[in-house]
Amino acid sequence: MTYHILVPDNLNPAGIDMLNAVEAFEITAPGKMSREETIAALPTAHALIIRSGTTADADLLAHTENLRVIVRAGVGVDNVDLDECTRRGIVVMNTPDGNTIATAEHTFGLMLALARHIPQGDASLRAGRWDRKLYMGTELHGKMLGLIGFGRVGRAVAKRAQAFEMTEIAYDPFVPPDIARHLGIPIVPTLDDLFAQADIISLHAVVTDDTREIINAETIAKMKDGVLIINAARGALVNNADLAAALKTGKVAGAALDVYDVEPPATDNPLLGLDNVVYTPHLGASTREAQEAVGVHAATRVIEALLKGKYTSVRNKPVLEKI
Ligand code: MLT
Repeated sequence: MTYHILVPDNLNPAGIDMLNAVEAFEITAPGKMSREETIAALPTAHALIIRSGTTADADLLAHTENLRVIVRAGVGVDNVDLDECTRRGIVVMNTPDGNTIATAEHTFGLMLALARHIPQGDASLRAGRWDRKLYMGTELHGKMLGLIGFGRVGRAVAKRAQAFEMTEIAYDPFVPPDIARHLGIPIVPTLDDLFAQADIISLHAVVTDDTREIINAETIAKMKDGVLIINAARGALVNNADLAAALKTGKVAGAALDVYDVEPPATDNPLLGLDNVVYTPHLGASTREAQEAVGVHAATRVIEALLKGKYTSVRNKPVLEKI
């Protein structure tokens, strides 16, 4: 049997090469495909490998006839309708390991850029100015870092924060306290505990009904005055209008944003254009090393699923009872 593997987003060549090496596979991977092109190619596909650029919603999934697996090359599966996949018997897997270091390092880059006004200093010097007084920063040393979400990336950030001699707390209802104790990071029982203590808050949670817009006017009011907020996880964790308002009053002294509720961000996103915000265009996972790892892991998921019936990092576990 020949399997058709459809890759409508850019996947690292290391992953494409692995797929091409399998005789039983026929690969469609022309680079970034439009939604219309993806839909046209879907009916014959047995496996779909996507990044965040393709939304596998119910409308798109309605065009699948033979699809067995979707692999999200990356972590977040918020662009995949998991219930609809389960209903259709499509196994959804992700590749959570490849991006961790890249995202943790980017978080730290954002933290330093924010605390030391590095982008503003760069822009000012390029404009011919020498504004040393304007860009007085704060040290990370001794500051309390509050991590919301203590999974792979949260833990990698925590490890790096220890080297900067920060103190740290984390909130994550899914992590047993003994794991955090082992890593030397106290897990606080409630988010309010974290808000009350943190000088810098970094988001590392997935978007669920419980975490959507977890940063909003009510929770910001519970934070320390002058708190810094970093979001390299998902834009939907933040209420845009509420965070923008708090940045304007200085309640939140600064934010560093790598992710947006809509990407690219809508032009009327109130978070855009603020002087005390550092922006990057969803670069968390954008390192050569991470993209190669993610490409290889995604190809491995497809090969193992279609040729060996082995499923790893399944995001819609109930489907396994149906296949
Ligand atoms: C992820 O979820 O893996 C990262 O945000 C990177 C990406 O969306 O590609």
